[in-house]
Amino acid sequence: MSEVLRKAREYEEKHRKEPPAEIRPKFHFTAPVGWLNDPNGFSWYQDRYHLFYQYHPYGTKWGSVHWGHAVSSDLIQWEHVPAAMAPGDDYDRDGCFSGSAITMKDGSHLLMYTGFVYDESDPKHRGIQTQNIAIGDGSNYRKCTSNPVLSVDDIPGGGDPYDFRDPKVWMDHDGILNAVIASGEEMSGARIIVFRSNDGVHWKYSHVLLENRYRFGRMWECPDYFPLDDAEVILVNAMDMEETSPEFHSGNNGLYFLGRTDPDSKRFLESSVHTLDHGMDFYAGQTMLAPDGRRILIGWMQNPGTASEHETVHSYFGQMSIPRELHIEKGRLLQMPIRELESYRTCAVEHRNVTLCSEKKKLDGVSGRILDMELIIRCRDSKRPFNHFEMRFAQHGDRFAALTFSPVSRSLRVSRPFSPETSMKLNERETVLPKWDGMLQIRMILDEGSAELFLNGGETVFSMTLETDPKADNITFVSDGDLILDVKTYKLDSTLR
Ligand code: FRU
Repeated sequence: MSEVLRKAREYEEKHRKEPPAEIRPKFHFTAPVGWLNDPNGFSWYQDRYHLFYQYHPYGTKWGSVHWGHAVSSDLIQWEHVPAAMAPGDDYDRDGCFSGSAITMKDGSHLLMYTGFVYDESDPKHRGIQTQNIAIGDGSNYRKCTSNPVLSVDDIPGGGDPYDFRDPKVWMDHDGILNAVIASGEEMSGARIIVFRSNDGVHWKYSHVLLENRYRFGRMWECPDYFPLDDAEVILVNAMDMEETSPEFHSGNNGLYFLGRTDPDSKRFLESSVHTLDHGMDFYAGQTMLAPDGRRILIGWMQNPGTASEHETVHSYFGQMSIPRELHIEKGRLLQMPIRELESYRTCAVEHRNVTLCSEKKKLDGVSGRILDMELIIRCRDSKRPFNHFEMRFAQHGDRFAALTFSPVSRSLRVSRPFSPETSMKLNERETVLPKWDGMLQIRMILDEGSAELFLNGGETVFSMTLETDPKADNITFVSDGDLILDVKTYKLDSTLR
C-alpha cells in the first residue's frame, strides 16, 4: 500500500466520528470526513453493493482526489470501509479521477479510473488525463503495473489530452469489456468514445458512440451507457450549458439520451434527449445493474458550479442522492427511489379527499424533516380551476422551501428562497411538465439536508440540498382555487433494519 493511501486511511479512521451520525443526513451517503463528489465504481461484488466516490479527506473543498469506499446490503445503510485508492503515482500524481468497477471472470474486482497530472507547462494550469486500472478483492486494490492503460496517444484524432476522462465499463455477453469515455474534441465539443478489451489491461479504441456538436454545453463528463427495457440509454453531464428552453438549464447538468446503436456504423441513433434531474443539485450520476436485474442510478447531490463556495459547517461536505430505480415508459426515463427505502417507513398518516379552496392548509400529522410523502392533487371543479398550487416544506414560520405548480402553463418550480444557500447559490429551478390531465402525483423524500421530488412516477425529478435548521419541519399546502389532495406520509427511521 502506498504511503499516501496509508495516511488517508489513518486520517479517516481518526476523524470518521466527527460529526457523529446524529447530525448527518440519515438516508443520504456522506464521506467519513472531508470532501465528496462523484459516485464511482458503483457495483455489486461478492454479495454486497460497493460505492466508491471522489474523496478529498483532508479538507471540505475539492483537491487531490482519492477513491473513498463504502459497502451496503440494501443501498440505504452504508458502512464506511478504508479508502480504496490514493493519488501519487506518475500517471495519477494529482488525482484519481472518476471511473467505474466490474467483476472479472476470475472473480477479481477491476476499477478503471482517470489519472490526473497537472501540466506545469500549460498556462491554463490544466492536467493531462489518462486511463488506469486497479484490481482488488473488495477491500484492497492494487494499481496495475502497466498503467496508464490508455494514454493521450490512444485518444483518436483531434482529442484533447486535458479532457479525456471518466471511463464507465461493462461486459458484453461474449465476455469482452467495453468502456465509454468522455473526450473533448475541437469539432464536436465533446464526444463519447468506446474502447474495448479482452483482459481489462490491453485496451483498443473502437468507435465514436455520440457527439455533442456543441448542442449541450462545452465538455461532457461522467458518461454512462446501458440497455434498459426496450431501448438504450446514454447519460452525460454537460458543462457550461446555456439555457435553450425551459427543459435545459444553464450551468452544469445531467442529460439522458434515449435511442439505439446502429449495428453497422456503431453510432447511437438518438430518439430523444432530456434533462435527468431539474433540481439545483444532481450531477455525475452513475448506474449499476443489481443482481435482480434492476438498473439503479445514484448521483452526487450537489451543483458543481457552486459546490466549492460553501461555508464549512462540518468536517465533511457533500452527499449522494437516494439511489433510484430506472425504467423507460412512453419515451421518457422514469426514476423512483429504490424500493428498499420502504422498509424504513413508520408512523403512516393518511388524509384522503381533502379539499383546498383558495387557502393555506396544514394537515394533522403531516410534518417532518425525515419523511417519505406521497401526494396526489386533482382538479375539483372545472368552474373554479386553480392557477397556483404550492407545497411548502422544511418550513418554520415564513421560511421554507417549496414546489409550485401552475396548470395553465404546466410550469413546475422548486425553490429554497429562505435557505442559507440564498447568499451564494442557485435557489430556484423551473421546468414544464410534459403533460397535465388534471392530476399530479408527487413523491417527496426529505432528509435533514435535502429534498428529492419525483413527479408523475418519476418522469420529472428535482433534487436539492437544504441547509435550513432541521427543526424547520412544517408542511403547508396553498392554492388559489379549488383542488383535492390525497396525502400519505411516513416517517423514515434509520434504526428500523
Ligand atoms: C465531475 C468531475 C469528473 C472528474 C471528477 C474529478 O464532477 O469533474 O469529470 O473525473 O469530477 O473529481
